[in-house]
Amino acid sequence: MSNEWDEYAPGWDGDEAARAYAEAAHASLSAVLADAGRTVDGARVLDFGCGTGLLTERLAPVCRSIDAVDTSQAMLDVLDAKIEQHGWSHVTTSTQLPTTLESYDLVVCSSVCSFLDDYPGTLAELAKLLVPGGGFVQWDWERDDSDDDPHGLSRPEISAALLAAGLTVASVETAFEVSLGEMTMRPLVGVGFAPAG
Ligand SMILES: C[S@@+](CC[C@H](N)C(=O)[O-])C[C@H]1O[C@@H](n2cnc3c(N)ncnc32)[C@H](O)[C@@H]1O
Repeated sequence: MSNEWDEYAPGWDGDEAARAYAEAAHASLSAVLADAGRTVDGARVLDFGCGTGLLTERLAPVCRSIDAVDTSQAMLDVLDAKIEQHGWSHVTTSTQLPTTLESYDLVVCSSVCSFLDDYPGTLAELAKLLVPGGGFVQWDWERDDSDDDPHGLSRPEISAALLAAGLTVASVETAFEVSLGEMTMRPLVGVGFAPAG
């Protein structure tokens, strides 16, 4: 079945902004986990809304496993080619969310949550997949309600969704600032942790 994101798949990795965003998100992930005394090394990761795997490919060399999930099969086809090229037997792709509870040390959502029909509901489902003490990290555009066509999420909205999902809110803050030509990307990062067992 086709998906509205399919058309972006062939050109996604050639988009300088998408690559710069992933690079900066990866750096900010290391920083927010370090703040909590954590690391991605050896982690079992769910990359939800993985797209072509721009974040997955940066995590794959150090993580124990990555399940990369996206509703666009065309996006996953691009990632599947990378998995085959690198021989990453510990990285899998699927259009379906796994159902086994408490199986991930880390769930990442890079520029995904603001596109979901039900962000709080999806976050609650994702939180159940975390092991006790596991981390949830999302990056999203910060909504500016004064824009003509506002898009993104607000800081209170992210905090409320993390809390409602049963996570402890570690931080909701500016993730990074990257300028490309006249464009400046300044998304939010939201970080939550599942209660320790
Ligand atoms: C802006 S792209 C980000 C892709 C990738 N995370 C990145 O940073 O390059 C948003 C992605 O979210 C995916 N997506 C949208 N709704 C989704 C859903 N309900 N479940 C899983 N993935 C979804 C889209 O197919 C698309 O690949």
